[in-house]
Amino acid sequence: MPLVAGNWKMNGDVELAEKMQQTFGATSIENVDILICPPFPYLSSLSSDSFAKGAQNLSQFAKGAHTGEVSATMLAEVGCQYVLIGHSERRQDNGESDDVVALKVQAALENKIIPVLCVGETEAIRESGDFLKCIAAQLDKVIALVGITQFAHMVVAYEPVWAIGTGKTASPEQAQEVHKFIRQHLAGLNSEVAQGLRILYGGSVKAANAKELFSQPDIDGGLIGGASLDPQEFLNICLAAKS
Ligand code: 13P
Repeated sequence: MPLVAGNWKMNGDVELAEKMQQTFGATSIENVDILICPPFPYLSSLSSDSFAKGAQNLSQFAKGAHTGEVSATMLAEVGCQYVLIGHSERRQDNGESDDVVALKVQAALENKIIPVLCVGETEAIRESGDFLKCIAAQLDKVIALVGITQFAHMVVAYEPVWAIGTGKTASPEQAQEVHKFIRQHLAGLNSEVAQGLRILYGGSVKAANAKELFSQPDIDGGLIGGASLDPQEFLNICLAAKS
């Protein structure tokens, strides 16, 4: 089943949380899993039978003297089923390395929270032609720490950095090329896990371009930033994922 996830980033408020619940509560969307990832303060109040909720980050540590951090057990306690890990904005703003990303994936898995592992290349790497190597390296650190079979309990999101918030969407063919590569790369280690893995595309997805992207064979849904802040637009994107 496709998965459509909304990443509010550092946006939204109590009012948006309420509107989301109303909009999604009034429409039943079958055969699409929906996930909303608001900032931490809105996690406990956001609750709906129509969508799952997830966090945008977690600590790699279990507990203790880590001021400002939030642990996997805390997220599980407020009903988070998913957590975004390794978003490019965290890699850029907070210096999260592939090693730290792998530790965060491990922390989520240990607490039965589904990691949405974000990978993607910068514009410079895309232009250098080495983008598939970059994606492989980002995946390999995680595989080395948690093992390929754990990908049965994970989601991967391909988010080319040059397409995030820029309005420059990857073409369906460009996205499909990388999604297919991700699946093949993992299939080299475990084909069953690779076949079952949901790989989301993120980067300037809107209702107007969602259907074409989601119809690609290796694109199993989307990770939506800006357009997930408008409940009706986000709903329309979710509807576009229905096969
Ligand atoms: P935009 O949809 O705003 O380009 O953001 C994508 C993203 O980063 C989702 O995590």
